[in-house]
Amino acid sequence: MPSDWYKSAFGDLYPIIYAHRDDEAAAAEVAALIQWFDLEGSAALTLDLCCGDGRHGTQLSELGLSLIGIDLSPQLLERATMRPALRSRLVRGDMRQLPFGAAFDLVLNLFTSFGYFIDESENRQALFEMGRVLAPGGRLVIDHINRDWVEKTFVAEDQRREQDYVIRQRRTIEGDRVRKAITVTWQGGREIRMNEDVRMYRPEEIQGLLTASGLTQIQIAGDYHGAPLGEQSKRLIVTAVKPG
Ligand SMILES: C[S@@+](CC[C@H](N)C(=O)[O-])C[C@H]1O[C@@H](n2cnc3c(N)ncnc32)[C@H](O)[C@@H]1O
Repeated sequence: MPSDWYKSAFGDLYPIIYAHRDDEAAAAEVAALIQWFDLEGSAALTLDLCCGDGRHGTQLSELGLSLIGIDLSPQLLERATMRPALRSRLVRGDMRQLPFGAAFDLVLNLFTSFGYFIDESENRQALFEMGRVLAPGGRLVIDHINRDWVEKTFVAEDQRREQDYVIRQRRTIEGDRVRKAITVTWQGGREIRMNEDVRMYRPEEIQGLLTASGLTQIQIAGDYHGAPLGEQSKRLIVTAVKPG
């Protein structure tokens, strides 16, 4: 599996493979976050780190937050540009080296946009960057996969149809990483293959990494409402604050 899989996995086919991760799902997540962190009416300067096609960012902007989105994928940024609220608010960049100072009141890293690098020091560097670009008192929210849920609901292989495409996914868990080999086939038999390779974290591990990045008030939750992490939690939501 190529170590830079993330450079090709988030292209034009990504919105088809993850069609269920749409604007409607994002609206519900944003509404819950706004309530959880009491952001109603706030104009907080917010970074949507790994913003993808801007499905969360557009909703946050419409609610009044002052949003910047950053992502590595030209294709997904192109789609984000089509959203009027985001057009002039997008930057192409890498999470390991963010082109900002300590400016943001809120940094959001949503829907498994972390743990991509095989060299763990690069994942730590990305976390460090998230903390560095927060203003004193600013808050970080990371929405990652919940390792226990991934292991409990593990399916080695499945196949489904989405529009004109057949999507076949083969998964393995190797140590701390969950790996996917995805094959997308469409009319005429044309086929494209891609990979995903994501580091999973235990709550106490990510807590330690955030502490080492200088962040405090670390909370671990199981959903966007702040419910406690439990056996039925599909997600691992981690929040932390940069000391003032
Ligand atoms: C799973 S998607 C989630 C996108 C978005 N947050 C959402 O919820 O729809 C992960 C995103 O991370 C971006 N990405 C991958 N590697 C990156 C990197 N090194 N730096 C910045 N963004 C990256 C991808 O292009 C993709 O948009």
